[in-house]
Amino acid sequence: MHRSHHCAQLTSANLGASVSLAGWVDTIRDQGGIIFVDLRDREGVTQIKLEPHDNATLGEQLKHLKTESVIGITGKVTRRPAGTENKSLPTGEVEIEATSLEIHNLSDTPPFPLDDAGGDKVNEDLRLTYRYLDLRRPKMRKNLLTRHRASKSIRDYFDASGFIEVETPALFKSTPEGAREYLVPSRIHPGQFYALSQSPQQFKQILMVAGVEKYFQIARCFRDEDLRSDRQMEFTQVDVEASFVTREDIYALFEGMLKKLWKDVLGTDIATPFLRLPFADAMNRFGVDKPDLRFGLELVDFTELFKTSGFKVFASAATGGGAVKAFNAKGLADLTQGELKSLEEIAKSLGAKGLAFIKVEGGEWKSPIVKFFSEGEKAALTTQLGIAEGDMVFFAAAPWEKACAILGRIRLEAAALLQKRGKLAIRHDDWKFLWVVDFPLMSHDEAENRYVATHHPFTAPVAEDAAFLDTDPKKVRGQHYDVVLNGMELGGGSIRIHQPALQKKVFEEVLKIPADVVESRFGYLLKAFTYGAPPHGGIAFGLDRMCALLCGTTSIRDVIAFPKTQKGQDLMAQSPTPVTARQLKELHIATVMPAE
Ligand code: AMO
Ligand code: AMP
Repeated sequence: MHRSHHCAQLTSANLGASVSLAGWVDTIRDQGGIIFVDLRDREGVTQIKLEPHDNATLGEQLKHLKTESVIGITGKVTRRPAGTENKSLPTGEVEIEATSLEIHNLSDTPPFPLDDAGGDKVNEDLRLTYRYLDLRRPKMRKNLLTRHRASKSIRDYFDASGFIEVETPALFKSTPEGAREYLVPSRIHPGQFYALSQSPQQFKQILMVAGVEKYFQIARCFRDEDLRSDRQMEFTQVDVEASFVTREDIYALFEGMLKKLWKDVLGTDIATPFLRLPFADAMNRFGVDKPDLRFGLELVDFTELFKTSGFKVFASAATGGGAVKAFNAKGLADLTQGELKSLEEIAKSLGAKGLAFIKVEGGEWKSPIVKFFSEGEKAALTTQLGIAEGDMVFFAAAPWEKACAILGRIRLEAAALLQKRGKLAIRHDDWKFLWVVDFPLMSHDEAENRYVATHHPFTAPVAEDAAFLDTDPKKVRGQHYDVVLNGMELGGGSIRIHQPALQKKVFEEVLKIPADVVESRFGYLLKAFTYGAPPHGGIAFGLDRMCALLCGTTSIRDVIAFPKTQKGQDLMAQSPTPVTARQLKELHIATVMPAE
């Protein structure tokens, strides 16, 4: 079983050496009775030449050998005949003339091809069912390695900056105001439950009270959310908290971390400091709080212009406290009816009444609404949107945030359509980092008619806005910040409230959580704050999302060794599963199955 070398190591410098290699059979070729095996291990591939003619044992062994079987060989390094070298492999000038072969394990025929191209074409469920085979593919192996390098780079950075890694519990208590949680029944406390930690938020703040000053953790978090390509129920945060810091300190610390990470993993220099964009500007210009800055197609506000318009839909939105916004999807006049229809559907799914448009073709504005526009309105649109032949302009008239959000989404769809037509180039490695800042501390939940924390209830208000907490909480900006890269929210954090009285006031008077509930849920935190809580703040980054971007993939499932499907299942180990009546009894649990 001894290996003298790995499969990417031997070159013409080793000619004549006796070596032993082990690994998986990548390919088998029979050339006139001589068998060539590409032997693969974690590092690479080496060609093995096996001549069974005058070796009966070898001949017998080779009869059974199939790809993906695990073998060991010993032999001599020889030069490949001129013209048969493989320049794309580090080992491509040599082959090993095998003198013995040991078969450690035969393999069944894999259910899908294990090369990158072949594996990419198969259904993801099949890949997840046979994840151990999927992870043999070069691309997936590289993703695992990239993730390892990323974690190492991050740990080294925080260590060098004086941060210490502290582990916090996964079994925590239920805090229903965040995302939906996973509950864990207690056997020894009948009827009581732990909750799996959604994030180490409260523990890291307690660590500041404990005098740790600079904490970090690569922490597993659990949230019972609807899964998407950028969301898993179990994911990993790079979680950080520090005492005696301002927002500026956090910006500089994390720009440093990302700079080192991109250099270590990709060898790329990213520019710092990052752009800082207030939330309101992000919404106004890009229609989203995580803008993709790799392309323009910016939204323009026409609320003032349309206040007196003959087009009643726009005029009534503009005068009724709403907004009228538009953007020019430059060059998209060749949109098909089907594409337009699906954009309309998307807009409607976001609450739009319709998706008004102007298509510029043959020198003419083709649009169901242009007949209502005055010459002045047309001129203003033309100059402010730079409207020209071949363009497609989209409008939304709705309450401000909704109008922004609708066009923000249509902007992304339009960009994808332009890209498909080769009219817009968006590169995955065009790194456009930014900080989104000045979020409102509170948003108003119309359904429940109360304020909810935009980020979480521990975020401190911007000092000069704090007075509005009593009068108009909507006006209070939070000391909250998000890091966004190419349309993805990488991380978010804030400077925290460290004064127990202010924290209590936010819980009880602004968020209207009854005092007894505050006491039972957060009493321990408020108490801790009465024993000398330093001013503190921090942030958490999604490690999975960062790795996905570093690996150039759009799904975090590609950078998680054993992810769950969109339906929250592990197709390989087959979870979740029912449990026995005895297990349930021991946990004091009775289940009620849904009807139907
Ligand atoms: P937040 O909830 O914004 O903040 O989470 C921080 C980052 O974690 C990542 N993330 C996820 N990644 C994959 N799957 C998920 N389901 C998922 N949910 C979140 C995102 C996100 O930006 N305690 C605060 C941070 C703080 O204030 O310090 C927190 O958890 O990249
Ligand atoms: P209507 O006058 O309702 O037939 O609408 C004329 C056009 O404006 C149609 O293309 C609608 O899809 C579009 N439209 C209607 N309401 C809105 C709105 N609130 N925002 C943007 N477009 C709209």
